[in-house]
Parts: sequence; C-alpha cells; structure tokens
Amino acid sequence: MKVSVIGASGRVGKATAFCLAEEDVVDELVLLGREKSLDRLEGEALDMYDALAAKDIGVIITASADMEDVKDSDIVVITSGIPRSADMSRIDVAVPNAKIVAEYSREIAKYAPNSIILVITNPVDVMTYVALKASGFDKNKVFGLGNHLDSLRLKNLVAKHFNIHVSEIHTRVIGEHGDHMVPLVSSTSIGGILVKYFSNYDSFDIDKIIQNVKNAGNYVISKKGSTEYGPAFAISNIISIILNDQKKILTVSTYLESEIEAVNDVCLGVPVKLGINGIERVIRIKMTEKEKKAFLKAAEAVKDTTKEVMK
Ligand code: LAC
Repeated sequence: MKVSVIGASGRVGKATAFCLAEEDVVDELVLLGREKSLDRLEGEALDMYDALAAKDIGVIITASADMEDVKDSDIVVITSGIPRSADMSRIDVAVPNAKIVAEYSREIAKYAPNSIILVITNPVDVMTYVALKASGFDKNKVFGLGNHLDSLRLKNLVAKHFNIHVSEIHTRVIGEHGDHMVPLVSSTSIGGILVKYFSNYDSFDIDKIIQNVKNAGNYVISKKGSTEYGPAFAISNIISIILNDQKKILTVSTYLESEIEAVNDVCLGVPVKLGINGIERVIRIKMTEKEKKAFLKAAEAVKDTTKEVMK
C-alpha cells in the first residue's frame, strides 16, 4: 500500500506521515513538499527511519518535490494550505487554499488516477468540494477530515464530564468542521446507554460543551501555533480503516446527493461506511428537530462559501 502526503513539512503533514508509518499499515510513504530544498523533508524521512527501526517497521519513505511521485498511490492526503492563525476563521483561508487544493487535485488525477484523495486543508468541507470537482474523481474517492476529529474532541469532553474511560464513549459530530458543526447529542452513548439516561445528565451543559468542541482547534493553535497530533491520529484512523477494508463507520466530509435531509451538491460531515474503495455508503440517519435545523444551517453556510470559491 502506498500513501502520499502533500504538505509533509507542515506540522499536520509530518505528524500524519509518522503516525501512518508507525501504525505499519503502509509499505511506501511519499513526503511531498514544494520547498526549493529537499533537506527538510529528507531529514524528516531519515529521522522517521531511525524511530521505525526501534519498532521493526520497514516502511519505504521518500522525500520529493515532484508530483509525479504520487504515481500508484492508494491514497493521497492533501494537507497544504495557508496556515490558519488563531484569529482567522477557516473561511478566511478559503480562497487562497482553494487554488492550492484545485491544482494538487488536478495533478493527482493525472499521476494517480485510481487513488483516493483525503482532504485536510481548511475550510475542509469547501476544499473537499474543490478537490472533487478539480480531480473529476467519483464521489466515493474524495472526502475530507473534519468531523471525525471534532467527534474525538467531543468524546474526550464527555468522558471528562461523566468521569468514564474514553473508550466507553460513542458520539458523533456532523455538519461543518467549523462554527456550524452539529454534535449528535441525541445518539451519544456511554457503555451502550444513551447519555440522557445518566443521573448526572442534568449537569451536562451541552451548549458549553458544543462551544468547547467548536473552539478546540483554535484553543490549541493559540497555545502551540498549530494542531498536530489530533488531526494526525484522526487521519491515520481513517486511512487504516480504508487500507484494511474494515467497513467501519466514521464521519468524513462527503459530497451529498440528498441522502440526509434532502441536502445536495455540497460536502458536509456525515457518517459513512469506509472500505478499500473509499466511501461505500452514506449512513442515512434521523435527527431531532434541533439537530436537523442545525444541519440545514451548516449546509447553507458551506454552500455559500463553496459558491464563492468556485466562481
Ligand atoms: C483542526 C484543524 C485540522 O481542527 O482544522 O485541528
């Protein structure tokens, strides 16, 4: 299995590459960057080789500035883009990033026409749409991170509130990876029991928790300049499920054609079944009235920005 990471000298890109190598799910990893000198990426590759030897993992890691090297990739991850500082919204970076994502997507279509494209660049729901259109790939082969990471953040907060091990928490955030994210509180469960049946549910301030999930990325950025391990592990979750053909349900940004609440022609985070061919199907879910309203609002907001960048 071969995975190429575009933007591998960025923090998310290099953490993703290392995380994937360390999970031992790939045989070949390409670190792609556009820097004039390859020193940085070659240094990363050598450092990773040293670390992996300690775990007896034999992945081939190549540093490259040549898009031709994505050839035969099973998955290409796009992490490049103008970085978002804590005071910028994901929307502020939409227009410049759309240009970058469109250009890479066209090159991926040229050199790795059978690959899956996983988009990380923000605003990710809009960028997933851009990548889908620019690559011309089928919609099951182009999707974005976002709400899977938000779901992991919500999982942590629920575990903390109820003081129960994180592995017992099942929860899901859908919609936009941004201000219009929709946490599915109605279907959140702990040890298989819906959260609303817990005796301390009344003190569970869901509005505050939702606010914290929305701010989680920015909060980390304000402290250390970028998020890194969170997205990297979320991405490597998605990739290992695909490469191992595990048919698990994760929330990724997906092109919708009325599968949920008649929303169409926009990419939004929804639960999907993932396997070796990418998205096998969108899971059609029912929501409460409140969740439905929020989901429709997310669709409207993402559609508006998508229209702006596609002009
Ligand atoms: C985050 C970036 C990946 O939320 O959008 O950490």
